This record gives sequence, C-alpha cells and structure tokens, in this order.
Amino acid sequence: MPFRIATFLIASLAGGGCALLISSGRAFWPGAWLGAALWMVVDAWRAQRLLDVLRNDAVGLPEHGSGVWGDMAERIRKLLRAREKQTREAESRLQEFLAAIQASPNGVILLDELGRIEWCNQTAASQLGIDAERDLMQYLANLVRDPAFVTYLASGNYSRDVVIDALALKQTHGRPARLSVQAHPYAGDRRMLLTRDITALEQAEAMRRDFVANVSHEIRTPLTVLAGFVETLQSLPLDAQERSRYLALMSQQAQRMETLVNDLLALSRLEGGAAPPVNRWISVRALLAQCENEGRGLSRRLFDQGHKLSFSIEADCEIAGAATELQSAMSNLVSNAVRYTSGGGEVVVTWRLLPDGRGEYSVRDSGPGIAAEHIPRLTERFYRVDRSRSRETGGTGLGLAIVKHIAQRHGAELRIESVVGKGSRFALVFPASRVRMVAEVTEPA
Ligand SMILES: Nc1ncnc2c1ncn2[C@@H]1O[C@H](COP(=O)(O)OP(=O)(O)O)[C@@H](O)[C@H]1O
Ligand SMILES: [Mg+2]
Repeated sequence: MPFRIATFLIASLAGGGCALLISSGRAFWPGAWLGAALWMVVDAWRAQRLLDVLRNDAVGLPEHGSGVWGDMAERIRKLLRAREKQTREAESRLQEFLAAIQASPNGVILLDELGRIEWCNQTAASQLGIDAERDLMQYLANLVRDPAFVTYLASGNYSRDVVIDALALKQTHGRPARLSVQAHPYAGDRRMLLTRDITALEQAEAMRRDFVANVSHEIRTPLTVLAGFVETLQSLPLDAQERSRYLALMSQQAQRMETLVNDLLALSRLEGGAAPPVNRWISVRALLAQCENEGRGLSRRLFDQGHKLSFSIEADCEIAGAATELQSAMSNLVSNAVRYTSGGGEVVVTWRLLPDGRGEYSVRDSGPGIAAEHIPRLTERFYRVDRSRSRETGGTGLGLAIVKHIAQRHGAELRIESVVGKGSRFALVFPASRVRMVAEVTEPA
C-alpha cells in the first residue's frame, strides 16, 4: 500500500513538475491533476487486465508483476497451485480406492437415487452381464430383468440378500451359476449393491444334504433288517438250527453297518487329518504283500473257485507317505477287482517305475468292465454302478471316494480305464518326488 501511495504521489508530482517546466510556474496544479489521472488510467488498465486473465480460467497469469496487481496475481497463482495439488491428490486417492474395489472378488455397484449405475467394478459387470463403461447411468433394473431382483430393488427392504441365476456366467453341470445380491443404502437414497458368486456354496450345501440322506438310507436298510430278525426271534418259537441261521444273518447286517461306519470315519479322518509325511518311506513290497494276503482271502471267501491272482514288482521301491492310508487305497482297488470279477477271472496287480521317475501301482481285472458314462462319477460317495452287486459283496459305495482322497493327499493321480465286457484297470500314479528305489544292500566281501 505505501508503494501504491508513493507511485501515486510521484505520478502527480511528475505531472506538476513537467507542467512547471513547460508553462514556467503557473500550471503546477493542472499538471499534477493530469499526472494523477494518468496514474489512475494505468492502474485501471492493469486491474482490467488481471480481471480478464481471471475470467479466462487464470490462463497466462503474470508471474512477476510489480505493485499491488502483480502481488495479487502472484498470490492467486500460488493459491491456485495449492488447490490443484490438493485436487490431484484427492483424485489419485479416489483412483486407488476404485482400484481396490476393482480387485475385490465380489461385485460392487453404486446406484444413484433413481437406481442408475454410477459406477461398477468389473466383477459385478461380468456377473450381471453389463458393460462397466457403456451402461453407466443406465437403470440397473432395465439391464438385469430377473423378476425377483427387480422386485427386491424396488422393495426398499434390504435386510436380506436376493439370490438370482447369473445367466452371464458359465454354466456348471448344465445349471446356471447362482448370484447373491444385497443392497446397502448409503448417503440418503443411494445404494451400494454387493454381488457374490455362490454357485460353489450352493453345490456344497446340496452335496451335504445328499450325503446325509445317503448315509441315513445306508444305515436304515441293515437296521430295518436287524429289527425284523429281532422281532422274529422274539415272537416265533424257533428250533436251534433256525435260530443260529437268523443270528448269522443278523451278524452279517451288523457287520455291514460296522463297515459303513468305519468307512465314514476313514473319510472324515482323511478330510481333517494332517498332510501325509514326505519323509516317511514305506516299502512297496510290504504294501503289496498285505494286498496279496487280503486279496487271496477275499477271493476264497466270496467265490468257491477263486481267481487267478498275480502280484508283481518290477522295481523295488519305497513311497513317501502315510502307511495306513497307502495300504487302504491299494487294498481297496484289489478288493474291488476281486469282488466285481466273477470266479475264475483274472486279477493282475503290478508296481512299476515309469520312465519319468513316477511310480505306478495298477490293478487290472477281467471283470464286467464299466460303461464310460459311469467312470467320471465312480469316486463320488455312494455312487455304484451295480447297487445289488456292491451290497452282496459287502461294498459301502465309499471305497473309491476314499482311494481318491488318499491319492490327492499324496499328490498321486487315480486313473481308471475300462471296457465293458473286457475288464477294468485302476492305477495310482505317484509323483517322482514321493518314489525312490530301495538302496541295494551290498554284501560284505
Ligand atoms: N474293478 C471293478 N470292476 C467293475 N466295477 C467296479 C470296479 N471297481 C469299482 N467298480 C464300480 O464302482 C463302484 C464304486 O466302487 P467303490 O467306491 O469301491 O464302492 P463299493 O463299496 O460299491 O465297492 C462299485 O459299486 C462298482 O459298481
Ligand atoms: Mg469298493
């Protein structure tokens, strides 16, 4: 401000001084007025120029102006620069938030007061079959026309989610994927929609229901038979021979229940158990010897004429893992081959090393074989091709499910090949990391 007054006075005095020189003394005051007026014109021009620049979005704001207008321009420029920096920072923070929401495995959609899409992440877009850019500001209810969803959105009651078919997603087992959508109101009338693919969850729930139903059914059948026998024993006068026949049948049913419970327990142990060790080495020879024992016993028990059973080891190896699990998986395959192949048939069990270092345990039989459509389902719990045959021979329908579980835990692959009428071949292929040759014991000279 003092600078401003000083320039004003200097301009006035300079005007007066000039007038004095020209008119020799008389015109000092008119000259001073003229000087002052000139100062004011220049000042007004500078003010106008600054105003013009500000009107033009402050483009070309002078950097180092003098006087009050230069000072003002400088201050405005600094202020603007600080604001711009703040805006840039806020913008980049917003972009980071959006990137985080983009990365979420769940879908997120922001709707405005009228139900138009303000923003949505890629997950939500692909789940609902909308375009994250093209469909912005479109009414969501026009794009997702599932009646349950439209009603839900319009209801305003968002305490629960709504489950709809996600037609845009890949179908599994011929059924559309399932989506759970829940709205959460925010900032007045706006809504945030969260979408979640619950196909796997629903499938697991359905599997659990099936499993419980299957177990109940499997237990009820022998239980009904047992109860019937008990009633007969109680109500009918039976001679000693009949009694012992009934008791034998009862014991058979009780045994069936016991096998079932044992298999169920084995499965649950496998599901919750610690991973099999990688440094405990089990001799394949010992495993196969046990298989042979059990196989021959079962064959004699079930079929009078037995089977042609052969067990061979091409390479003396050890497998790293849990001994009981490995034994259970290997014996299971032998017992299936024996039980489903009629008497006189052939069962060939071999262990060999594959060229790439993996180890293969295989059980080939000359049994009835399995039609191709059944093969992918054999390892499902309680899945049986021939129900009555399985029951007759004491099967629970859980054997291959247990084998598959054990294989997975040991990083092994269960391979099933079969030709109807010719026979089947079940093989467990163990990874090279879990197989090693037994070190040759060199005889001391
Ligand atoms: N070696 C085989 N030959 C023919 N069918 C087999 C053989 N192994 C398994 N299966 C079929 O697979 C089904 C499932 O086998 P598994 O899970 O061991 O149950 P199960 O207790 O009935 O033996 C069996 O019911 C049977 O129909
Ligand atoms: Mg079985």
